[in-house]
Amino acid sequence: MTVDCCTMIVFGGTGDLAHRKLAPALYNMHLEGLLPDQFQMIGLGRKEKSDNQYRKELAASVEEYSASSWDAGRWAELENRLYYQAGDLRDNQTYETLRDKADHINIESSDDYNILYYLAVAPQYFPLAASKLKRHQRTPRGGGWRRIMIEKPFGYDLKTASELNSNLTAAFKEDSIYRVDHYLGKEMLQNILTIRFANSLFEPLWNNRFIDSVQISALEKEGIGDRGRYYDRAGAMRDMFQSHLLQMLAVTAMEPPLVKSVEAIKDEKLMLLKAVNPGSMDNGNGGIVLGQYGGYLEEKDIRSRSLTETYAAVKLEIDNDRWRGVPFYLRTGKKLHDKLAKIVIQFKKPPDIYDGELGEKLKQAEGTLENLLTLKIQPSEGVVFQFNIKKPGTVDQIAPAAMDFCQPCAYAINTPEAYEYLLTDAMKGDPARFTTWSEIEAAWKLTDGLYSHFKDTRGQVHLYEQGSRGPAEAEQMLEKDGRRWWES
Ligand code: BG6
Repeated sequence: MTVDCCTMIVFGGTGDLAHRKLAPALYNMHLEGLLPDQFQMIGLGRKEKSDNQYRKELAASVEEYSASSWDAGRWAELENRLYYQAGDLRDNQTYETLRDKADHINIESSDDYNILYYLAVAPQYFPLAASKLKRHQRTPRGGGWRRIMIEKPFGYDLKTASELNSNLTAAFKEDSIYRVDHYLGKEMLQNILTIRFANSLFEPLWNNRFIDSVQISALEKEGIGDRGRYYDRAGAMRDMFQSHLLQMLAVTAMEPPLVKSVEAIKDEKLMLLKAVNPGSMDNGNGGIVLGQYGGYLEEKDIRSRSLTETYAAVKLEIDNDRWRGVPFYLRTGKKLHDKLAKIVIQFKKPPDIYDGELGEKLKQAEGTLENLLTLKIQPSEGVVFQFNIKKPGTVDQIAPAAMDFCQPCAYAINTPEAYEYLLTDAMKGDPARFTTWSEIEAAWKLTDGLYSHFKDTRGQVHLYEQGSRGPAEAEQMLEKDGRRWWES
């Protein structure tokens, strides 16, 4: 597939996402020669400002957030292709003005130039923008395409997500809708399927005969920043669990696809999400722990006495032959001790060849002796396998050892950031790294179910200290099962 040239129109062109993720991604794509020659971007925002002013603001963000080093000359080549338009997306006139601006920029091309819309605005505007686009966009006469990328959260629950989906599909054909979950653009998440299916060492063990439990973590040091208005309505479950954590779960635990195709992989992920049983492992409130960091109520735009969770730990079981009996522990939170995303597969203990003394030896050993396979998604990317050896110099003492694959050490390239992959894919028309409506629907059913269960059982939102590991109750959730979170 080739990358088609297009005009990208970003609703929310002055927002957090445009500054921190989209502009740096476009800059990196330009450095790597991945941007099509005829590419231009129009950022839509509410305040009046000139193209030049907008370019300066984006330049400052790129300098701050891009993983590539700043090169003023290379930026100058790109910035001439970035434009600004002031307007309110609730006004019809905005859509007419945008259309004229895009026509003007493309004056030398045919009527059939391609447009990639990007909805990077507050989610309550998604349905409105989609239906206004339907009314105001010009249907290309020839082969030009119209595509739309839409950020999460895709709705606030199943009901609002379904409404949004109806609006979207009324305005755009299904194959023109790119529903973004940027975790799917992360290099190591894409690598999981290869690690599983291209290694005869792992795939035969990937089931409840050999695996004791699985932990999926996406932890952050940062708080909610200036996103209080959105976040206080969403919380960690809607913001991270419904999307990123469940996508990580689906990729880790899905069955092998029947054929090698994008659709087959998506079908298997969907089947997996449908097989998740949130209730089965629950003992009282043990299956879900929510927390809020101290000081959250003083953040900007937060309701007084808000009970919104900034931390969630959830225990799930997957009700299929491969996984029945294996707990999956998922957790995410803000203002924690570390920023990382990883998946840890804990294998079962081996049969005791030490005449029943294995337990004793494990206790005496330095460090932990579980066999752990850690898939490191960020910030460092890699795979670590922890196994046991005889401690050198001793007769039969056991010690842990690790095989450690560090991806950036082995490949001295900067792996592309998630948004570079996602923008390139949308320009190419490749849906592989985007979520389908069915997956989103299944993920909402699950998340809504967990929320109602939490409410029905009068669950508490526990306070935790900033910079800590989260609420003590999340530690206890695993302790009750004789396990613990793997932190390093
Ligand atoms: C976004 C959430 O989807 O993911 C944010 O809305 C969160 O709240 C972010 O901070 C985390 O992404 P990453 O790539 O930094 O782990």
